[in-house]
Amino acid sequence: MSDSQLFNFIAEKMNHNPLKRITFADYMGEVLYHPFRGYYSAEKVKIGQKGDFFTASSLGSDFGELIGEQIKQIWEILDYPKPFSFLEMGAGTGIFAKDILTYLEEKYPDFFASLNYIIVETSQGLISQQKENLKVFINKYPQKITWKNWSEIEDNSIIGCGFSNELIDAFPVHQVIYTKGQLKEIYVSLSSENTLIEVIDELSTEEILTYFELNEINFSENSYPHNYRTEVNLLAKDWLTTINNKLKKGYLITIDYGYSNKKYYHPQRYQGTLKCYYQHHHHDNPYINLGLQDLTTHVNFTALELWGKELGLNQVYLTKQGLFLMALGLGDRLAKLTSEKINLQELFKKRDALHQLIEPQGLGGFNVLIQSKNLTENEEKITLKGLMIN
Ligand SMILES: C[S@@+](CC[C@H](N)C(=O)[O-])C[C@H]1O[C@@H](n2cnc3c(N)ncnc32)[C@H](O)[C@@H]1O
Repeated sequence: MSDSQLFNFIAEKMNHNPLKRITFADYMGEVLYHPFRGYYSAEKVKIGQKGDFFTASSLGSDFGELIGEQIKQIWEILDYPKPFSFLEMGAGTGIFAKDILTYLEEKYPDFFASLNYIIVETSQGLISQQKENLKVFINKYPQKITWKNWSEIEDNSIIGCGFSNELIDAFPVHQVIYTKGQLKEIYVSLSSENTLIEVIDELSTEEILTYFELNEINFSENSYPHNYRTEVNLLAKDWLTTINNKLKKGYLITIDYGYSNKKYYHPQRYQGTLKCYYQHHHHDNPYINLGLQDLTTHVNFTALELWGKELGLNQVYLTKQGLFLMALGLGDRLAKLTSEKINLQELFKKRDALHQLIEPQGLGGFNVLIQSKNLTENEEKITLKGLMIN
């Protein structure tokens, strides 16, 4: 099953190219983000039990609340700025925003009063869902939450914290293949039977080579197998550059699944990390279910660190989500569960959700990258609460 309108649109795009093809990154961009037909653009539930995959926020309010603890401490470290901007990028259904705002409003009203919540989101369908989920806050505090494009946020204007969970893994990537001693790119084209096919040719941009040089990956040196295939997320660099330009002072917290560069591009990982999600099943074929399935790749965290350094971001720490959330109080929550006045079924559900957030083979194994900008020497010395058990 596929969206034929989307297929026709992609075919048309290929037709406009003199070589009758588009890069895999262009293809992935269309199937995920085409304004009307892309996976993230259609107005239907994708995240959570009824969708194709779930994220930390689908498990209940604990994730948002624990992150709330960290953000509140950041506000203190930055000396209580008013407004303190919290910039969430790629807000999904808006459940995380709802959880964190609900928690902060009740537990830290002073901080809540200073908080300016900005959402940068590309999907119009998801913006509608976010507005629906946040309508209580929108009605109560009309100025507090705003949706903005990057162009609507002035450079050097954000004092506070940028945050994303599972954003970078959703960026379109270039696919490359090391074949006959050369690094080539994979393009998508049409066969004579009008089906999608892959075509291998020269790299579409030198930036791919720069990327591998920066990451010290040399395919000719190691025991890379013939036709080693992997991917390159160049949009992650554009994104980091943009958020860095907007941030005047504060932190950037990036949570996602991924590896260091050497692990990512290990010779044994010869098929890359691209995965397709359709109704909670994953498979490896990005050329079916057009516009109906999610496509995602792991994140090269070393690249984010190296680009961050180039841009002048200070590397605070790279930790695991399990440790981060434990330090923010997840362990206490687990311990207190039995004393809560809830029925057994509810108790098991909550306990299971907390366990899933820290499970090392699952969400707990996600990376949490923390970078900072323009902190004073004293501010830099303060350990973030989420890093206290590292
Ligand atoms: C995998 S979902 C994660 C959603 C949410 N953070 C969560 O944890 O449930 C990726 C989100 O990023 C959004 N997105 C993708 N590319 C984006 C971009 N360049 N800028 C802002 N949002 C983007 C998607 O529309 C979607 O909301």
